[in-house]
Amino acid sequence: MKTLIYIFLGLAILTPLVIKFLQHRHLYPFMPFKYNFRRRRVTFAKVLRLLNERQAKSIIETGTSRKGLDGTKSDGAATIVFGKWAKRNGAKMHSVDISEDSVKGSRAAVEENGLSDVVTVYLEDSLTFLERFNEQVDFLYLDSYDYSKTDTEIQHKSQVHHLEEFKLIENQLHQDSIVLIDDCGLPGGGKGKLVVEYMLERNWKILIDRYQILLVRK
Ligand SMILES: C[S@@+](CC[C@H](N)C(=O)[O-])C[C@H]1O[C@@H](n2cnc3c(N)ncnc32)[C@H](O)[C@@H]1O
Repeated sequence: MKTLIYIFLGLAILTPLVIKFLQHRHLYPFMPFKYNFRRRRVTFAKVLRLLNERQAKSIIETGTSRKGLDGTKSDGAATIVFGKWAKRNGAKMHSVDISEDSVKGSRAAVEENGLSDVVTVYLEDSLTFLERFNEQVDFLYLDSYDYSKTDTEIQHKSQVHHLEEFKLIENQLHQDSIVLIDDCGLPGGGKGKLVVEYMLERNWKILIDRYQILLVRK
């Protein structure tokens, strides 16, 4: 009887810990083990591999990491993750955001993580920024206009905005460019609905289709 009680207690203590461990989607060793990237882990890990293989030099992100590394589970913290990759690999990252608060949070995180020499955070509408940007882009990450799970008008505006972003920069993408779109696995098709349809008609193919959609050239 005593043994059974010990086994029961052991399981009651261990099971939640094991579940927590299995749900912990880390990017270790690239990022410290404590950060959980949840639904973005697989796509972020694949992008990091592709950036290495393709020796990317120029990264653009629309919608910046307003919460810095506190946002690994929610927003993604891409500015810091890919900024860190840029720092280690002699690349440059440009992150643009329309909100003063988001830019303030992101700039503080960039500074805190020692990335100020490689990551520039711009306070601007992504559309005017992309229209002006005239260099080649090796990795494009689209994650701006916040999506809504319930409001179909916001869903449509967000989808149109991400399509417009892509159209403004597509001529600076090349055969080895990588495109990642966030918040896709959501009701109504997510941020990527229109832009992915557009890309699939133009010689792009989907590499990973999960919460985020990752595309490369055919
Ligand atoms: C989900 S957050 C970005 C998260 C970030 N990419 C990360 O990985 O942590 C979306 C951001 O897009 C910004 N945004 C919304 N509309 C925008 C626009 N038209 N141009 C640029 N940024 C915009 C918001 O201010 C917000 O900070």
